[in-house]
Amino acid sequence: MPDKLPQKKILVIHGPNLNMLGQREPDIYGHQSLDEINAQLLALAEKLGMALEIFQSNHEGDIVDRIQQSVGTCEGILINPAAYTHTSIAIRDALLLLSCPIIEIHLSNIYKREAFRHKSLLADIVTGQVSGFGPYGYQMALNAMADMF
Ligand code: DQA
Repeated sequence: MPDKLPQKKILVIHGPNLNMLGQREPDIYGHQSLDEINAQLLALAEKLGMALEIFQSNHEGDIVDRIQQSVGTCEGILINPAAYTHTSIAIRDALLLLSCPIIEIHLSNIYKREAFRHKSLLADIVTGQVSGFGPYGYQMALNAMADMF
């Protein structure tokens, strides 16, 4: 019997402006940097026996490319599409290529904010959504993903 089961491969996608976390509207998004959030997520992934690949881009097409590359190679997606949540049919269409679980994450509660943030173009195609729990939302999502396997 092998010592370890193969690790599940999870792709984490951070959309535009999330590279500025810590400096960006800290009253809304908190004081943690994206590197700190990623480090916490990597530590949790190790405990859960998952392998994470983390990708951040400010460019819609690059996010679409990364999603396309993950077809058949990853077993789950955590995505905070940031502002593209509300605008990107291209990211929605790319995610529809996948058959693995997808969890949409928002640091802020998008339903408590401006009306233009209330509509997510992904909400009806993802497995679930976490919104409003700050950086902890990423850990909630990864735990939920682990529970699905
Ligand atoms: C966000 C919410 C979006 O409306 C916004 O454009 C972001 C971040 C969040 O994590 O709360 O950039 O996705």
